[in-house]
Amino acid sequence: MVNMDTIKSEYQAELALVTDAKQLGEFWTKYLSKSGQIQKLMGGIKSVPKEEKKAYGQAVNDVKNWAQARYEEKKAEMDRQAMMARYEQETIDVTLPASSVAAGNLHPLTSMKYEMINVFAGMGFEIFEGPEIEDDDHNFTRLNVLKDHPSRDMQDTFWLTEDLLLRTHTSPGQIRVMDAKKPPIKVLVPGKVFRSDSDATHSPMFTQMEGLVVDDHITLGDLQGMLDQFVKAIFSDEAKTRLRPSYFPFTEPSVEVDVSCFKCGGKGCSLCKGTGWIEVLGGGIVNNKVLENCGIDSFRYSGLAFGIGIERIAMLKYGINHMGKLFENDIEFLKQFKA
Ligand code: DAH
Repeated sequence: MVNMDTIKSEYQAELALVTDAKQLGEFWTKYLSKSGQIQKLMGGIKSVPKEEKKAYGQAVNDVKNWAQARYEEKKAEMDRQAMMARYEQETIDVTLPASSVAAGNLHPLTSMKYEMINVFAGMGFEIFEGPEIEDDDHNFTRLNVLKDHPSRDMQDTFWLTEDLLLRTHTSPGQIRVMDAKKPPIKVLVPGKVFRSDSDATHSPMFTQMEGLVVDDHITLGDLQGMLDQFVKAIFSDEAKTRLRPSYFPFTEPSVEVDVSCFKCGGKGCSLCKGTGWIEVLGGGIVNNKVLENCGIDSFRYSGLAFGIGIERIAMLKYGINHMGKLFENDIEFLKQFKA
């Protein structure tokens, strides 16, 4: 008869030699599978004398249970060791410096635009954005910049067809707003504009912010009051404005607006070229013809308008001497504007 103890010690010795999952699988096939040695022990019952069959069956069952239990123990131990090895390998040294993720920042023109919008939003302005491709009517004619009038030469235009063009300023936004809405009107029109012009202070594409207020009794005093608040918020608490007579076809009277030099406080320096003043924008009282072109009664209502170059304000505020810098996307330059 088969000696169960021999089988057990062989089984145990071989199991002890198993060191990895592959060997454990082979071991299982050899001993515990249907055709494995332990299973086959039951087959031996045929050659066992009748009176011993019961005891033999019992012994085989004991061995089977014992073998299965040893196998489970071994497997559990190997799983535990594999897990420990993984823990060991995946250990994180929390004292190491973290690898930092470089965060981006807003482009200086974008943050300048937001800053400007914020100031005017605080005075109750709404935002309107018009199309970058405009027609002659909105960009020129209804703004009182008539065909063949020399004032058209003030803006070198990119024409797309006889009638269509890349808008040369945000002023056509005034026409679109007044077509859509009647007074009281208080809007800002920020956006890209295009002119065939390029040097240190000009770029073929740049951005403007138009302002338009139409209501009862709007005067040049309202314009200056608003712009005073604007320059104080953007440049310095001490900043103030000065209006100089100028000419724009869409305003009458028209003004050029200067800000007192925020660098020298008005004494005269290189930034203000010794004058104490820096030109920042154009504006005026909306020409009656423009109001009438939009079906607004110019006897009842009056308006103020202004147009600000966003690059110009950013260049002054940050001391940037070449407009191209704002469009080159040079990371080292842009990083300086991280808040
Ligand atoms: N559209 C003018 C330009 O681009 C700027 C301007 C001047 C806008 C006077 C205005 C204004 O609304 O009243 O040169």
